[in-house]
Amino acid sequence: MATPISDKKYALVTGGTSGIGLSIVQTLLSEGFYVAINYAANIERAKEVQTQLEVNHLGQFSIVQGDLSNLTIIQPFVQELLDITPNFDVLVFNAGQTDRSPFGEITPEDWNRVLNANLSVPFFLTQSLYPYLSESASITFIGSLMGIRPHAMSVSYGVSKAAVHALTENLVKHVEEKKIRVNAVAPGFVNSPWQKNKPAHIVENINKKVALHRFAECKEIANAVFFLIKNEYMNGEILKIDGGYSYQ
Ligand SMILES: NC(=O)c1ccc[n+]([C@@H]2O[C@H](COP(=O)([O-])OP(=O)(O)OC[C@H]3O[C@@H](n4cnc5c(N)ncnc54)[C@H](OP(=O)(O)O)[C@@H]3O)[C@@H](O)[C@H]2O)c1
Repeated sequence: MATPISDKKYALVTGGTSGIGLSIVQTLLSEGFYVAINYAANIERAKEVQTQLEVNHLGQFSIVQGDLSNLTIIQPFVQELLDITPNFDVLVFNAGQTDRSPFGEITPEDWNRVLNANLSVPFFLTQSLYPYLSESASITFIGSLMGIRPHAMSVSYGVSKAAVHALTENLVKHVEEKKIRVNAVAPGFVNSPWQKNKPAHIVENINKKVALHRFAECKEIANAVFFLIKNEYMNGEILKIDGGYSYQ
């Protein structure tokens, strides 16, 4: 665990040890933020990330393990965050889960896991951390193109991401007293470990539908997130970033 730096701005990135989250972490570290980096279970990857980030950012981050798909984690997780700082400037809710079971085989447990990880835990973390957010803090959710347009792959995922977009718009008025801004990005298909098992023919099929004929790089999504954090007039926005995806 690293020691916090007193005059830094503090950020939380959930799911920050891989893919899009790691790229957001790297961006924030480069911009001088102190970052609390959360992950769920892959301790080997967390250790690799720690070693990699210590090269240029020693003392500028803490890694906080916590599976955010269960509501019982809220209180102990918040306490761990408050041990780092009582004053966060940036929250990025990036950790996400999916369930690719066929419609008829979806269990209540899997439904709740996906809805908790993508929607409910981020909401209750926001609620619990609200007293510890600085004036003009920024909250960003990672939504999805699949929350805008239905997709056959996962009902719970699409529903949860649509709800994340609705949450983004609904939260704005609840946090206005502190001039806190709430935004979301809705990525299309992104080159991250999340997509690594996608068969080549499916990737090819998707690339045909994307006008730029490729997946996004994680850094391109991180840049969009950082734009929402930095631009002080962006509020209540769902920023779709999908390379020009069409369903023809
Ligand atoms: N990749 C895409 O095409 C795409 C498109 C649209 C939206 N998104 C969204 O972008 C976000 C990040 O996806 P990604 O592609 O970067 O995924 P990824 O490469 O698989 O990384 C996922 C990260 O989230 C963590 N995580 C997963 N479940 C968690 C949980 N229950 N609690 C805490 N941390 C958890 C993982 O930690 P462990 O390794 O320890 O499990 C890892 O650090 C997700 O919300 C996803 O829905 C992705």
